Amino acid sequence: MWYSAVNFGYANMRLNEALIDQLGRLPQLASQYLHREKIELAAMIAQHAEATWGEYGRVHFNVGGAQAVEDALKLVRNAKGGKGLMFAFEGGYHGRTLGASAITSSYRYRRRYGHFDRALFVPFPYHFRGPRGMSKEEHGAHCIREFERLFESEYNGIWDAKAKEAECAAFFVEPIQGTGGYVIPPKNFFRDLKAVLDRYGILLVVDEIQMGVYRTGKLWSIEHFGVTPDVLVFGKAITNGLNPLSGIWARDELINPTVFPPGSTHSTFASNPLGTTVALETLRMLEESDIGAQVTEKGAYFLEGLKDLQCRHKIVGDVDGLGLALRMEICREDGFTPDKERVDRMVDEALAGELEVHGRRHGLVLDIGGYHKNVVTLAPSLLISKEEIDLALELLDCLLLKVTR
Ligand SMILES: Cc1ncc(COP(=O)(O)O)c(C=O)c1O
Repeated sequence: MWYSAVNFGYANMRLNEALIDQLGRLPQLASQYLHREKIELAAMIAQHAEATWGEYGRVHFNVGGAQAVEDALKLVRNAKGGKGLMFAFEGGYHGRTLGASAITSSYRYRRRYGHFDRALFVPFPYHFRGPRGMSKEEHGAHCIREFERLFESEYNGIWDAKAKEAECAAFFVEPIQGTGGYVIPPKNFFRDLKAVLDRYGILLVVDEIQMGVYRTGKLWSIEHFGVTPDVLVFGKAITNGLNPLSGIWARDELINPTVFPPGSTHSTFASNPLGTTVALETLRMLEESDIGAQVTEKGAYFLEGLKDLQCRHKIVGDVDGLGLALRMEICREDGFTPDKERVDRMVDEALAGELEVHGRRHGLVLDIGGYHKNVVTLAPSLLISKEEIDLALELLDCLLLKVTR
């Protein structure tokens, strides 16, 4: 579903109609003015944060994920006396504007544009490719210990113990890496990371642009990990892909109008009524349903099917999932060496539309991610039926057979 931008299906009539209705009422409004949907949407997001984390906060809108990441960068730089250095994860993706690509771990996105406060990249607890002989939890704890070493002495280069000040303003994280290949950290990882960040006065910015809006079974994927973010960034599926509305939620102390006055960021189309209306309708629709339970149940069912494929196909090195964010890592016959060439063949075979199941030919559109571009990242509609999951698994089985023949 388009990198998880269309969580509720391409023909979601309720959301489509909300957009069409708004088009006839008030299609656009300069973003310095208030309109009802903008206020109600901001209130819903802030109330959810208050109910979940007991934190009073505020919301600011923009258009496009990367622009909201830019706003989060401004916010934390402002809060930390203009510090421009950030931590971010290896394998992380935060967008392609100058600021967002500076905290994205791929040099390919930065190479031609000169330096722009590049982040310090820290290993993510990617257990499958981590050191052998550690459990997922042990590997997470190992990553935290290695990270905390950066603060061990003055000469580790990040921490001035006399001034009690860190060189980095914030750590930008995706709770589950998206473009990095749907990598799911151990449950205690972010709680332990936040404890380190709190010790050294570093803010936690959670990028929910790809994993938010119930992809993992919760409104925000960070809710699985028992920590309160300082700043949260959202986009994509908040409008079911119908409008590029994005935004940030932040703790009041960082974003209140005294410290971050109106005009601190601005865009002509920020908080546009078409986007805020659909986003409001999306959240209302979700509030009326038991979407979290449904996603959890369907995700577990899908993951069982993927595990079965892993048992039967040597080239499936790893499968994992949280809610309906699922991964299938394709390797050589040893089940470990990344095999991008084989994945490329899988993509082509899938698009050819010749996969035959129960006498009917089908095609599949695969989304590929991962550090080695060898991970099939599965982000189906959250309204997918069990029958459709069964069909998807049969098609994947058929595809895996085709490329191992
Ligand atoms: C986690 C994450 N952050 C930021 C972005 C950038 O969003 P946009 O493409 O809307 O600028 C993306 C897009 O894929 C993303 O997955």
